[in-house]
Amino acid sequence: MIKVLFVCLGNICRSPMAEAMFREMVKENDLQGKITVDSAGIGHWHQGQPPHVGTQNILKDHVISTKGMTARQVKYEDWDEFDYIVAMDEQNMQDLTGIRKEFNNVRIQRLMDYVPNATKENVPDPYYTGNFQEVYDLVKAGCEHLLQQIKEDYNL
Ligand code: 4NP
Repeated sequence: MIKVLFVCLGNICRSPMAEAMFREMVKENDLQGKITVDSAGIGHWHQGQPPHVGTQNILKDHVISTKGMTARQVKYEDWDEFDYIVAMDEQNMQDLTGIRKEFNNVRIQRLMDYVPNATKENVPDPYYTGNFQEVYDLVKAGCEHLLQQIKEDYNL
């Protein structure tokens, strides 16, 4: 199994949106037997909570389910468990480095790093901006390119 973990600060807005959208893309590409998807937050504050209503609503508009999804905090073992850890912004990257510096095979990059000539390097936090549409558009582009990269990396 190829394992992908999306990470943001709270694990209620951006990374669960990416998780749900990427899982849908994996299904559309008939790769559900090869790729698994999860998400986690740097912080613990929302542990056990469902995605933010803003994330839920925009995904509902696109008929993407968030059923059963709950927030969790990143853990040390995630670096061993996952093949790709995909951060939403530079602060997440720095925080991840603070949690664990030494690791072997996991690729840790920002989502927008997968997009050639991306308009933004970071996915802005809609918890503060309120702009879930912007996040949806960026995450969609990011996930499409991430899937392309995984297909290339694994000859899928
Ligand atoms: P997220 O947004 O990182 O996209 O899930 C946030 C959600 C909650 C908080 C910060 C960011 N918070 O500070 O509680």
